[in-house]
Amino acid sequence: MTNRHFMASKTVWIIGASSGVGKALLYEFLNRDYRIIVSSSDAQKLQAAVREVVYVEKDLLVKPLNLEQPDTFPDIVDEVFRWAEGSIESVIFSAGIGQRSSFVDLEYWVFERVMQVNFMSYTYLTKLILPYFEAAQAGRFVVLSSVQGKFGIPNRTAYAASKHALHGFFDSLRAENFPWLKVLLVCPAYINTEFAFHAMLSNGNEQAKQDKGQAHGISPEECAEDILKAIDKNKREIVMGKWQQRIGVWIKRFFPALLERIVRARVKKKVDQSIANPSDF
Ligand SMILES: NC(=O)c1ccc[n+]([C@@H]2O[C@H](COP(=O)([O-])OP(=O)(O)OC[C@H]3O[C@@H](n4cnc5c(N)ncnc54)[C@H](OP(=O)(O)O)[C@@H]3O)[C@@H](O)[C@H]2O)c1
Repeated sequence: MTNRHFMASKTVWIIGASSGVGKALLYEFLNRDYRIIVSSSDAQKLQAAVREVVYVEKDLLVKPLNLEQPDTFPDIVDEVFRWAEGSIESVIFSAGIGQRSSFVDLEYWVFERVMQVNFMSYTYLTKLILPYFEAAQAGRFVVLSSVQGKFGIPNRTAYAASKHALHGFFDSLRAENFPWLKVLLVCPAYINTEFAFHAMLSNGNEQAKQDKGQAHGISPEECAEDILKAIDKNKREIVMGKWQQRIGVWIKRFFPALLERIVRARVKKKVDQSIANPSDF
């Protein structure tokens, strides 16, 4: 629990703060005495997450936002920046959903939903936020990608595509707005959160169970601490997680054909742990 007695000077907006990494980041930023805006689609879950870590809400705005409802974005961004008196230091895009199905079986609307939540929503929010950052000649986007933003595995076509797209978009944006715009792309391997429970099967139903990979992943608190360290060091991209799960990024970079063989072989043998397991990440 954190008690907040005095006015904080900087503001952060965390989208996806109701659970997992976003909630752990909320706690980290409270300890750093930021003014905080928290968003996610489920207002009750969001309020419950806030009540768990904060008991004086003076410097905190709870603003529900559904990434599948882009029509609501302009009013929400206006309201959030009004509350922040025009100045937000960092916007954190943590919200996301997963997928667990081959592309051939996947109903196409599920593919579109993953792309909307994990990617398209963030381009539109960025379009609305960027003018405020430009006016201040300062601002930072912290974007939760994944090791799946660096290489693809079976049963993750939509998820891997959405995470790869974030890299192309935000690398371009960073270059367009050098030197004042900061972008940190975060590429975790497994994190032990609710993420796998909510991942969608081919028909869009939730998987509703934990995966072994996530169960053995790093904690969201460890992930949040590493993100804060990366922000302090002004890093542009970080890969995090246990080395056995991170190593795929390195293999892909230097030995792409080898990674493809590993992924194929492991999927064929149905090995239930590794970078290539179709029911993980
Ligand atoms: N867990 C992993 O192993 C792992 C690995 C690599 C990368 N990542 C990435 O890390 C990020 C955080 O995931 P997590 O592990 O913390 O998962 P999580 O515990 O399931 O949290 C996901 C967050 O996204 C929000 N969200 C989902 N759909 C939304 C929507 N339509 N509109 C607004 N908010 C929405 C959820 O809140 P509501 O339910 O209230 O909407 C929740 O706050 C994601 O981008 C994920 O892709 C996770």
